[in-house]
Amino acid sequence: MNYQDNIAAMVAPLCLWYQKNQRILPWRENRDPYRVWVSEIMLQQTRVEAALPYYQRFLEALPTVYDLAKAPEERLLKLWEGLGYYSRVRNMQKAAQIVVEQYGGQFPKDAAALEKLPGIGDYTAGAIASIAFGLPVPAVDGNVLRVIARLCNDDADIMLSGTKKRVKEALSAVYRLAEADAGDLTQAIMELGALVCVPGVPRCEACPLQRLCQAKAMGTEKTLPIRIVSKEKKTVKRTVFLLCCGDKVALVKRPAKGILAGMWEFPAAEGHLSRKQAEAVLRAQGIEGRLQSFVESRHVFTHLIWEMKSYLIFASEKNDAFSWFSLQELGGEIALPSAMKPFFRALTENQK
Ligand code: ADE
Repeated sequence: MNYQDNIAAMVAPLCLWYQKNQRILPWRENRDPYRVWVSEIMLQQTRVEAALPYYQRFLEALPTVYDLAKAPEERLLKLWEGLGYYSRVRNMQKAAQIVVEQYGGQFPKDAAALEKLPGIGDYTAGAIASIAFGLPVPAVDGNVLRVIARLCNDDADIMLSGTKKRVKEALSAVYRLAEADAGDLTQAIMELGALVCVPGVPRCEACPLQRLCQAKAMGTEKTLPIRIVSKEKKTVKRTVFLLCCGDKVALVKRPAKGILAGMWEFPAAEGHLSRKQAEAVLRAQGIEGRLQSFVESRHVFTHLIWEMKSYLIFASEKNDAFSWFSLQELGGEIALPSAMKPFFRALTENQK
């Protein structure tokens, strides 16, 4: 069987399996594109179980695209706190504003138009187009690439854009020809990837495609897909200043561009500074005080690792170069990125 026929043959048994085995998930309650969209953005970097409480809370707070378009930024960041990658929610708001202003509050029923919206790539455009609108457009992410690589015993590197393009083209042809509902097909492939055709050791005994699966026939199901990660993550050393004055601690806003854009963080300097160096940096900012070595922490982003050491400083005066908040505010309305949370927790412990 050729590549595309092999994929076409999976449609009927897979959709039957999906009807019987799908998980009950809140974004499957209806096909509102707003709900589908929010779920897909959340699920890009977060497991289903972890995303569930955030999803419910987000939709209760902002049930429509209009609510999202006009929500204050701090509220958005707070709703997103814990999910990380805050640019996702910022882009969602920009996209919501475009949907409201340019499309009268209705998402365009067209994958190419969806893909023009901020934060919507070809995966999310395909997911919304197929799930919400039943359009014959696949959504190809790492899970889908894994399922198809095994089904077709394909040893191409799934990190290459050419591999993804080829899978997307074959799937698109299958979607156009299939009688199945496009949204069910998209979710069925995702669900198989999440529950059965899992990374590492797949659960072939539970798979509706075991007789069609070329990898299973050749004994390669545990080694596929091939995924060659070329670049090591860059490690950046930072020194974090936990600057306290009375019951307040100093925060700064990060630059509007780049990692954690526009988020609050504790003031920090590049590199691991000795106490002497750290004192000099602070003195240059007009801060005098005794420095105490405090907790260390490591935070792993997608392409970057921060290795952070910290100093605790009790300053006698608040300096205007910083914004000052109580720990209560940091635990409440101020959204702190996960990278800063270990310092916040240590400060809270230290105050007890
Ligand atoms: N992962 C990505 N999208 C998903 C969806 N709609 N349902 C379950 N898992 C997913």
